[in-house]
Amino acid sequence: MRRDDAEQWHPGSWRAREVAQQPAWPDTEELKRAEARLSSLPPLVFAGEARHLTDQLAEVAAGRAFLLQAGDCAESFHDGSADAIRDKLKVILQMAVVLTYATGVPVVKVGRIAGQFAKPRSAELEEIDGVALESFRGHMVNDEAFDAEARRPDPWRLVEAYGQSVATLNLLRAFTKGGFADLARVQAWNQEFVATSSEGRRYTKIAAEIERALTFMRACGIDLNKEHSLHEVDFYTSHEALVLNYEEALTRRDSLTGSWYDCSAHLVWIGERTRQLDGAHVEFASGIGNPIACKLGPSVAPEDAVELAERLDPDRTAGRLTFITRLGADRVEDLLGPIVEAVSAAGHLVVWTCDPMHGNTFAADNGRKTRRFDDILREIRGFFAVHRSLGTWAGGVHVELTGAEVTECLGGAEAIGQSDLDENYTSMCDPRLNARQSLDLAFRVSELLSLERAA
Ligand code: PEP
Ligand code: CO
Repeated sequence: MRRDDAEQWHPGSWRAREVAQQPAWPDTEELKRAEARLSSLPPLVFAGEARHLTDQLAEVAAGRAFLLQAGDCAESFHDGSADAIRDKLKVILQMAVVLTYATGVPVVKVGRIAGQFAKPRSAELEEIDGVALESFRGHMVNDEAFDAEARRPDPWRLVEAYGQSVATLNLLRAFTKGGFADLARVQAWNQEFVATSSEGRRYTKIAAEIERALTFMRACGIDLNKEHSLHEVDFYTSHEALVLNYEEALTRRDSLTGSWYDCSAHLVWIGERTRQLDGAHVEFASGIGNPIACKLGPSVAPEDAVELAERLDPDRTAGRLTFITRLGADRVEDLLGPIVEAVSAAGHLVVWTCDPMHGNTFAADNGRKTRRFDDILREIRGFFAVHRSLGTWAGGVHVELTGAEVTECLGGAEAIGQSDLDENYTSMCDPRLNARQSLDLAFRVSELLSLERAA
């Protein structure tokens, strides 16, 4: 990290800045005790792993790989079961197989998982029938039930979020390194309710072709047991670095390099509501060695993006910074080009990835927050079109999904309509693609990516 100001970065230097989107912790002494407890616990990830992800993201920035970042909008303390984690991983692995097989481009897999427990809110308070309570800010802070006790921010939830993240990451490591992610099991990732659908059948065909290829290689005398990359996958974790008390407590000095790393996840990102240039979140992220990302919404001016890149990637290191644009399907074609041009002209080799979810959310007639599959696809198409016209690499997608058969987003092959939304709507926050919609999306993106690669 390079900075001109005299004041030195340290894991707590964000505290001198304005901090947006923080809970009103009722008892600061209790908060300090929870922070001290977190500081005494081991890191979730190692600096070396974070550096490895930076290297892989550098490949994305250079146009040689594609980033798939996906998972819940908000993870839940009530939904950390092995089955739920496995099903989310299955969908992401399936999507990655589709993208890789169809395009020949390596896919860097990053989950919104094992730490995605805090949410920024558009209003501090939520009011129902004349009663105003603190908004639900994610299970790291409070509970979604609308009563005063549940909504009171409890700092011990930071420690509980750490605990669930540890358990989740432990299982992810077992799944991805212990045989479950073996390419020979590619067929087994297709869940029953997905397999019977048209996109599931399309997936089955790819899986069968991969199995045939493996059989062929074996028949040629290649010892597949020796090929680690066929039996394991690298799967990385990420979340929004929102509650900085949590992130600071898990920021540790790497004994190898002497640099600071936020060991709560491999990659952390700055949200659309907390990307103020002089704010606490940018200050915090600027000093950690992890690869970092920053959301860019429709209000961002090209020069704002350049200043963010300057603060977050002063050394112009490929893979260090990912810009996640979420401009909305209607505006992406107008807004994205000047942003990409300005950042590129300033010499930053960033990863450009498209979040087609957060710029396309609206309230359905019954009040449910939802998104149309077609809008999601339309923003991704616009994103690819702009990059193609500029000759830059459309490097990835960032989506909210789950492995379950939820009915939260409209459309897709199942044609979920507004009246279906209540059927199985379990997200505590934003609407997610279900497993079928996610796979469907992967096929559509693979077509766009093939065109991009050909160009
Ligand atoms: C999110 O990713 O869930 C989110 C809140 O996004 P944004 O910061 O882009 O609004
Ligand atoms: Co969200």
